[in-house]
Amino acid sequence: MFIHQYPLGPWDNFQYFIGDRDARVAAVVDPAWHLQSILDEEGRLDVKIDAILCTHSHFDHVDQVEHLLKERDVPVYMLREEIDFSGFRCENLRPVSPGETLRVGGVEVDVLHTPGHTPGSACFRVRDNLVTGDTLFVDGCGRCDFVGGDPQVMYETLRKLIDDLPAETTMYPGHDYGQTPTATLDAQLQSNPYLKLSTVADFVAHRMSGKTAGGQVPPKPDWSP
Ligand SMILES: [Fe+2]
Repeated sequence: MFIHQYPLGPWDNFQYFIGDRDARVAAVVDPAWHLQSILDEEGRLDVKIDAILCTHSHFDHVDQVEHLLKERDVPVYMLREEIDFSGFRCENLRPVSPGETLRVGGVEVDVLHTPGHTPGSACFRVRDNLVTGDTLFVDGCGRCDFVGGDPQVMYETLRKLIDDLPAETTMYPGHDYGQTPTATLDAQLQSNPYLKLSTVADFVAHRMSGKTAGGQVPPKPDWSP
């Protein structure tokens, strides 16, 4: 099993390949910004892309899905909640349900429903690793002031992740906003200001104040390329 992280695009996005080295296949998570760069990573890793996983529908996470599908005829997995919310459509779109387990070669990928940034945001869990999209960043969390965002729901989502997952879980965020590209949940409990807020009221006030780090510029209203 491997998780390969690489930065791409002007918004400090991280994209990922989750793969099976023996089977030489991988899923690409959140293909956006530049198709050739994604194909170059595939070649460099010497794997074949056999699935596309989307943490959510914002265009900086999905705007190369259609282009990639022209090169690779693979399924596109997104939570049904996110598809319903956003109206996202593409060829080969496979709505998934919370708790579903996907397979990449011999690697199992659990789909966690983590609403708050959007109603159908997902995190992908592979053993003790969690690809978090725009739900949780190193020392930050996703904005909740876009359409479909909800800071109270985000608070519950983050609590649940902390309660349910082993402390040694390594998180792989959707943007490079922290001091380090990845971090363990244990370390984040010490340093992430959003995880230190112990009441929903404090969390909502802090997240919605507009003065805190860990945000991102607003997405285009339409996710289409
Ligand atoms: Fe986003």
